[in-house]
Amino acid sequence: MALSTHETGEITTGELSPCVPGQPGTAPTREEVDGPGGERPLVSGFRQMKLEKEAQKNWDLFYKRNTTNFFKDRHWTCREFEELRACREFESQRLVLLEAGCGVGNCLFPLLEDDLNIFVYACDFSPRAVEFVKRNPLFCPERCSAFHCDLTRDDLKTNVPEGSVDVVTLIFVLSAVHPDKMKLALQNISRVLKPGGVVLFRDYGLQDHAMLRFKAGSKLGENFYVRQDGTRSYFFSKEFLAELFADAGFQCVSNDYVLRETVNKKEGLCVPRVFLQSKFTKPDQSDSS
Ligand SMILES: C[S@@+](CC[C@H](N)C(=O)[O-])C[C@H]1O[C@@H](n2cnc3c(N)ncnc32)[C@H](O)[C@@H]1O
Repeated sequence: MALSTHETGEITTGELSPCVPGQPGTAPTREEVDGPGGERPLVSGFRQMKLEKEAQKNWDLFYKRNTTNFFKDRHWTCREFEELRACREFESQRLVLLEAGCGVGNCLFPLLEDDLNIFVYACDFSPRAVEFVKRNPLFCPERCSAFHCDLTRDDLKTNVPEGSVDVVTLIFVLSAVHPDKMKLALQNISRVLKPGGVVLFRDYGLQDHAMLRFKAGSKLGENFYVRQDGTRSYFFSKEFLAELFADAGFQCVSNDYVLRETVNKKEGLCVPRVFLQSKFTKPDQSDSS
């Protein structure tokens, strides 16, 4: 079975060359995949419009097919984002989080298990994903509110009080949004974030293995591709992300590529991965006075 281009850190199946642990097989370069100059024909304008119109439906169908079994729980979140522990002003402070694009809760539930003193708003534009979150045995309304929201269109303030959130997690979500609408999603998030609050971001980096695996006929634009199931993925450069957040009014705290290998011991496969992990803050206007 082929490795899915949806993978975001873990491999379950694959048909890649085996590699000796510690010596990852070299991934093909963009030029090797796309030909000289890295150019390949784009998907037609008509299909691109259809994909944008059906983005929500395609993600909802993804969860219909895969239910809660596709992504693994992201237990690395607290380890990688120290802020989740460190950003309290006083020890007993109850942190308010927004998990934007929560899927079925693979990031949300490990966070709730790890830190008892948080309240999490969780939203996604797939109604099925939100239902899965609400039906999870770890879901409890005293500590979590899950709701349906298209981050590019629906005002988050309908469900989250303005300026009330300490930390927003944006984990493998912005890559699924059309690049033209990413700024709208960030501006929406900014409205519910406290001044001085942070956005913790992790997503696909440029030249990630998943990007190099896209076949002809799947390119939508620069660094933007469509999977066979109609869901789309953008691959971020540091520069693009920094400019995007700056345009939406954020300040950059950190913004770096993270190089990882995903390993499937059973199949003897390892694959080099490129993610972008970043932290941005909403400026606290009172700081400048
Ligand atoms: C790769 S999944 C990641 C889910 C989750 N953050 C995690 O770490 O497991 C991407 C999610 O983004 C959601 N999504 C994509 N575009 C969205 C939008 N415009 N508004 C809200 N959610 C969106 C999809 O429905 C999907 O659940």
